[in-house]
Amino acid sequence: MGVNWYSHLHETVGPVMLDSLTIQKRVRELGAEITQDYRGKSPHMICILKGASVFHADLVRSIDLGISFDFIAVGSYGASTKSSGEVRILKDLDESLEDKDVLLVEDILDTGLTLHYLIQNLESRGPRSLRVVTLLNKPSRRIVTVRADYVGFEIPDQFVIGYGLDFSQRYRNLPDIRILKVEPETS
Ligand code: IMP
Ligand code: MG
Repeated sequence: MGVNWYSHLHETVGPVMLDSLTIQKRVRELGAEITQDYRGKSPHMICILKGASVFHADLVRSIDLGISFDFIAVGSYGASTKSSGEVRILKDLDESLEDKDVLLVEDILDTGLTLHYLIQNLESRGPRSLRVVTLLNKPSRRIVTVRADYVGFEIPDQFVIGYGLDFSQRYRNLPDIRILKVEPETS
């Protein structure tokens, strides 16, 4: 990329935690693992908007199987980084999950509230199987127990932006994952 539009315009953008090459390599590994595990099957990938959109777009292209995908949007953080603990569906799936091998794609597993809610909600729709892949995991922040079947990276308790992750809806298009300089409000 030519101009680092973010580095001189925004005081909020901090150092790189995971650079784009490291992310790409790990996403390919996850894709290879999923390809092996689902051989003979056709996973139905569900991208959790908006944060997982960038990861999802890369991950689906590293899976060497016939797949299908759908999108769901949930709200919990609003405009800030503070979790209300409440999860609601803002945009539901287009398709039924009955008899599908569902693979839920998330950007980051933090308190676990979002995935805890979504797993229960989607399990009730009759999928054949349901697994979770998350790019990032912050285990130190967990409030409820959630199992992630595939994890890209375990990271420390720092607020990160880029590669789909936002701070007040910005920075999702940064190619690297960076640390936010300003400490956001946390629950
Ligand atoms: P949880 O319900 O607390 O597990 O939160 C999951 C959601 O919170 C993610 O899908 C993100 O949208 C958001 N989130 C949690 N930590 C971060 C972060 O460090 N950067 C950006 N978004 C985050
Ligand atoms: Mg999100």
